[in-house]
Amino acid sequence: MHLEKILMVSFRNFSAAEATFSSDLNLIYGLNAQGKTNFLEAIYLICLGRSFRVAKNQEMVKKDESFFTIDGNLTLDNKIKKRTVLRYIRDGKKEISIDRKKLTKHSKIFGQFPIVVMAPDEFKITSGGPSERRRFIDIFLSQVSLSYLTNLQEYNRILKQRNRVLQQIRDGQALSETSIEPWTQRLVEVGCEIINARNMFILEFSETLQAIYKKYTESRDILKIFIESTVTLRHENCDTEDFYGAFQSVINKEKVLGTTLVGPHRDDLVFKINGMDLRKYGSRGEHKSVLVALKIAEFRYLKLKQDETPIMLLDDCYSELDNLREEKVFKSLKDLGQIFMTSPRESILDNQRGQFDNFSNISRFYIENGNIEHKKN
Ligand SMILES: Nc1ncnc2c1ncn2[C@@H]1O[C@H](COP(=O)(O)OP(=O)(O)O)[C@@H](O)[C@H]1O
Ligand SMILES: [Mg+2]
Repeated sequence: MHLEKILMVSFRNFSAAEATFSSDLNLIYGLNAQGKTNFLEAIYLICLGRSFRVAKNQEMVKKDESFFTIDGNLTLDNKIKKRTVLRYIRDGKKEISIDRKKLTKHSKIFGQFPIVVMAPDEFKITSGGPSERRRFIDIFLSQVSLSYLTNLQEYNRILKQRNRVLQQIRDGQALSETSIEPWTQRLVEVGCEIINARNMFILEFSETLQAIYKKYTESRDILKIFIESTVTLRHENCDTEDFYGAFQSVINKEKVLGTTLVGPHRDDLVFKINGMDLRKYGSRGEHKSVLVALKIAEFRYLKLKQDETPIMLLDDCYSELDNLREEKVFKSLKDLGQIFMTSPRESILDNQRGQFDNFSNISRFYIENGNIEHKKN
């Protein structure tokens, strides 16, 4: 899949900007705070209907304007053309349409246009708190499995209800002790589905990841990832008994705190290099290498599962790539598909070291204060 063209109106610092892309490599440069990341954000929105930054729709509307529109023309691997349009009017709801048909649910865009982003912020996946890793795994899995996304939405709904009842119990409102049970039962059922889906995914994905990590670091280090769950499983698959068991030991505490303490919303993803927890012991270099491997593995996995080549966004990542065997990474980027790469320094993107020799079709864009200039090579 590749993006052919994009039009942004009143989006972030762009008043009205249009660009037509190479299906191969797109290099975007410009000084800081000129709109490079905003530009990549618009591309991501075209593909997934949401931002890779934790951004509210309001924040994406250009200052002093009342709406934003992003209009993108995509071509799938089988040459079929698609057009995604996103529109948001201040204080209203975001609207997404594909080929002029308005989506009844935003989540319907998931799984259609795979995209992977590597950006400095993504370091939170390996170095931030558990919620960052859950976010990573949830967005990732939602792209490959509609049932995962549906279960996740259902789980969050039930979780809210269960927490509400627990809060009422905590606050001493007259409620029978059994009022929590229907919620617990539903939570356990859907929660087990999520735990099983995550475990199955990690089992497959960790192999891809490990192989890629080895290849690009040229080391013998073993990178392993696994889920650290608040629910202890007795067998390979989660069954409801496991979940009830976990609740038994925390239910009294839950009633005091007014919140649900076990379940996939409390689980974590752990990265270990040669048995050492990356988050506690990893060097900066190791974090960088893991992030690059993680993103290339994500790309390969999405491509395989969705049978569609994802778009790759590399935002200010040059120093990350530098850390690995650079030629190898760039060679592999060539097989990736359409790439958008930003840098504040033009010199980094000038191909003096021949790092882009493999790419046949390179387009260059210069961004200044929300204006995009397509440079002739
Ligand atoms: N809603 C908005 N309206 C106007 N300008 C915005 C909006 N959101 C962000 N910006 C501006 O965009 C610029 C940052 O753009 P960004 O793409 O992050 O820069 P960079 O080129 O460094 O990646 C800042 O100057 C910021 O003020
Ligand atoms: Mg930026």
